[in-house]
Amino acid sequence: MSQIRDNIKPAQVPPPCPLAAIARDDLFVHYTLESARLGNRPMVERRLADLRGCFADEAAFEAALRQGNPLLYSVSSVEPAAGDGQLHYGLGILQPGKIGAEYYLTKGHLHAHRPAAEIYVGLAGEGAMLLEDEATGESRLVPLRTHSVVYVPGHTAHRTVNTGAAPLVYLGIYPSNAGHDYAPVAKNNFRHVVIERDGKPMLVPREKK
Ligand SMILES: [Fe+2]
Repeated sequence: MSQIRDNIKPAQVPPPCPLAAIARDDLFVHYTLESARLGNRPMVERRLADLRGCFADEAAFEAALRQGNPLLYSVSSVEPAAGDGQLHYGLGILQPGKIGAEYYLTKGHLHAHRPAAEIYVGLAGEGAMLLEDEATGESRLVPLRTHSVVYVPGHTAHRTVNTGAAPLVYLGIYPSNAGHDYAPVAKNNFRHVVIERDGKPMLVPREKK
């Protein structure tokens, strides 16, 4: 037994809890589904024009943009503390709509710290998460809706899609050191597209240009 115990590495001692260092309004944050805003945090807004290059049907994108530049999604986030073991989280709201047959979507990203995973909690609406393994390109379309939780593994590009008729509201919780890397998706986009076919969401391979 002692042999076994000797082979167990001692658990790493976490740094002292920085409770006193965390602002009171970072310990408790109120939100409403209507505003989809975390407390008084600023909202990062993305409009249609910001999504240039994301949608598969470029002609439909340009046609839609000529009609206006609607807000597609916004995100507010809380970053209570940095450092090993700490968490950040963000609340997103993605509007319903389509460009051609493709549902409204977020830009999508990898984490700058590639091993960092993330938890998405569906709070309102109906949508999905497009997951793509960075190394293999393996893709999954996972439902994201009220009363559901989606696990995004590390090393996985992820994009949110609204497949419903109402705003999709969700909470994303991630390690404080995750960071956001948008460059690979901006350069290569996802290998698959989420379109509506016969009234249902479907994952189809992106057509090569
Ligand atoms: Fe993320």
